[in-house]
Amino acid sequence: MKQKEQKLLCLALMCAFGMSTSGMLQAASASLTVHADQPGARINPAMWGLFFEDINFGADGGLYAELIKNRSFEFPDPMMGWIPILSFSSGRPRGALSIESVAPFSPANPHYLRIQCEFATYGVMNEGFRGMGLREGENYDFTAQIRASEGSSAVRVELVNPTGQVLASAKLTGLASEWKKHATTLKASATEPKARLKVILEGKGKVDFDMVSLFPRKTWKQRPGGLRADMVQLLADMKPGFLRFPGGCIVEGNVLTNRYQWKTTIGPVEERKLIVNRWNFEFRHRPTPDYYQSFGLGFFEYFQLAEDLGAEPLPILNCGMACQFNSGELVPLDELDPYVQDALDLIEFANGPASSPWGAKRAAMGHPKPFNLKMIGIGNEQWGPQFIERYAIFHRVLKDRHPEITLVSGSGPSPADERFDFLWPKLRELNADIVDEHCYANPIWFLSNANRYDRYDRNGPKVFFSEYAAQSDRIVSVNNENNWECALAEAAFMTGMERNADIVRLASYAPLFGHADAWQWRPNLIWADNLRAYGTPNYHVQSLFARNRGDTILPVQLTVREQVPPAPTGGVGLGTYRTAVEFKDVRVTRGGETLFTADFATEAKGWQLPRDGKWGTAHGALVQSDMRAISTAWTDEVSWTDYTVSLKARKIGGAEGFIVVVRNDHQNTRVQWNVGGWGNTRHGIQSWLGVQEQLVAQTPGSIEPDRWYDVRLELKGPRLDCYLDDKLVQTAEIPLPKREGLYASAVRDDRTGEIIVKVVNAFATPAATEITLAGIKSIRARAQITVLTAAALQDANSLDEPNKIAPRTETLKIPGSKFTHTFPRYSFTVLRMSAGKSQAGGTPDRRSAF
Ligand code: AHR
Repeated sequence: MKQKEQKLLCLALMCAFGMSTSGMLQAASASLTVHADQPGARINPAMWGLFFEDINFGADGGLYAELIKNRSFEFPDPMMGWIPILSFSSGRPRGALSIESVAPFSPANPHYLRIQCEFATYGVMNEGFRGMGLREGENYDFTAQIRASEGSSAVRVELVNPTGQVLASAKLTGLASEWKKHATTLKASATEPKARLKVILEGKGKVDFDMVSLFPRKTWKQRPGGLRADMVQLLADMKPGFLRFPGGCIVEGNVLTNRYQWKTTIGPVEERKLIVNRWNFEFRHRPTPDYYQSFGLGFFEYFQLAEDLGAEPLPILNCGMACQFNSGELVPLDELDPYVQDALDLIEFANGPASSPWGAKRAAMGHPKPFNLKMIGIGNEQWGPQFIERYAIFHRVLKDRHPEITLVSGSGPSPADERFDFLWPKLRELNADIVDEHCYANPIWFLSNANRYDRYDRNGPKVFFSEYAAQSDRIVSVNNENNWECALAEAAFMTGMERNADIVRLASYAPLFGHADAWQWRPNLIWADNLRAYGTPNYHVQSLFARNRGDTILPVQLTVREQVPPAPTGGVGLGTYRTAVEFKDVRVTRGGETLFTADFATEAKGWQLPRDGKWGTAHGALVQSDMRAISTAWTDEVSWTDYTVSLKARKIGGAEGFIVVVRNDHQNTRVQWNVGGWGNTRHGIQSWLGVQEQLVAQTPGSIEPDRWYDVRLELKGPRLDCYLDDKLVQTAEIPLPKREGLYASAVRDDRTGEIIVKVVNAFATPAATEITLAGIKSIRARAQITVLTAAALQDANSLDEPNKIAPRTETLKIPGSKFTHTFPRYSFTVLRMSAGKSQAGGTPDRRSAF
């Protein structure tokens, strides 16, 4: 477009969007061609799915509707969750509680509670999982194994609110001297999110209790002992293509004895062996010492859930490695057979005839028909040669015995690091089917990497992008929010996955659930408390993709005009890598203007000093005196653009030199000059975009101890010049982080002939877009348009405002196969246009079946 025309268009857009020329935001304009005449590969019908892990009280205390915590008294502290009821008048117990193990009702569940009442009444109260959620008028089914060992005529069970008011009560009589399952129903007289259950002995005597259980009658599909209906409904509404289970790190366990073993999670619930949850105590700021896995939601129930959801089951098995963020314990290669056998037996459990040994167990649980398992994951988030050695063994045996099963392997916890770079070529050599990639990074990473898969090798393994979530704060931070900015960035990235659906065959957000009062990790796709559950904006993004999946990729060509890339901004950091260093005379300037000076006379004002390392001020300098520390101090300010930072630095001792950071946004995007890095042999410019590190430039060089150096970094747009003692040592152009942009993908629904176009406008302004449906002669005038957007990027849904950000669907009139549509700022739009089957245009490429 000529310059004059561009200006006119720009003015027209300004009028259309009501913006003035002074201090205005420039509107985006673009053209998007959807090549309906060049259909691409077939999309995996199961492409968009769910990643489930029992993290954040996702299963016990969450999806699994059991309301009693530690129902079997098998927690290592067998009374955890149980509180003695003291006498109202004396404040003392009227009896004794003990944990016994003589003649339990099941040897698999060896401990039980003995209540001894000495006078009138005595009993215990269960606190539930941060309370129990009750709804007025609804029924709750109480069951327990009970044995009267001495005296006592009856047991009373009560549901009470936090002030002790009774909301439901029932009596159990006819106690026997042998174990017997007793049951009663409690109808709640009020809605209460934090109720508790009391078990009270009436009369003097001793009574034994085990498997004390309370379930809402209204579970998913009304199954006794089933799942929370509202939570499953949210999953069902997404129309997920697959269900990955049971994790996540819980597959691995912190040590191997605590790994997930599927065989201990099937059969009668009272015989399932409880173990500690990998996320117990795990999260630094929020310990959850009461986090155990009862396995009431076990492998049978996962398969059943997948079937209910119409999703492919995707179990992940331990590959002989405990979590490498914990012990990293390994099974010796010559002892791996039982692990491989678990995989073989699982295939039989899922797919074998009811007459086969493991198929018979499935049938005994009520599902004689096979579950039609097609995929298994070997290991969760493993890395290193140890993983490759173990995966190779599974691969060899399973490909030989079950070539029909697709094997999921993994590339470690990051989408771009040395672990990833090591694993991918090895897995390619092994002819792996599909490689799992994980990514927790800030929104910038997702926006900047939307074209990640455009360049992937089409001849190697496929990709399963199985754990991802944009992080509004730092990764694994307690401040991460499920805000609109993150959801929008994920949507942008997902258009890239959809465009490349020939190689990205499966994808899922992680983690799935977070309990508002008991989480260890955030963000999460769905948040819940004891009574409510809601979908985050990220959930709606996932749903819109899954519900508008289509069958065939339609290539798109997107051209964005008139956008001036925003100047990069960011603050300064001073760092050390196993070295003690002093910094002083720090000055940030732009042109002749001083933006910031640091006076370390008394304190480090304007700086954030990290907890690691020993930071302080002395004789006018900022000092990091721990020679082993890898640590960086940051300026509070992050809004500077195109600046020069100058300072003096002196190495006191240690292995390397010093580090100066620029363009730091406190969200893992920064550029650092590493002076005397790599064991004090080289200087290097490193850039971080989200989690992704790139070594931009490197040159030989070292730093002498006890000598003050003059350091200067000059930033101009993408360019960085680095000076040492006034000499230019390194210079580089550093890719700019992407904070805005327009993204699109298109697919065709082969059954209806509809063309489905997805557009993410991550610009701060509306984007007027000329859309051309190439190869389509006529189109129905009424299209369906669904828009997901929010008033502000920081907006989020909450338990009190669950639908603040939710999709809105309307009819859109379109004049023909060429039209202009304006996508609102910060929005995700799905357009469904009916071209009719006869115009399906071209033969799709069917080769890429998974
Ligand atoms: O999704 C949370 C955790 O992130 C998973 O357990 C693990 O696989 C990853 O590190």
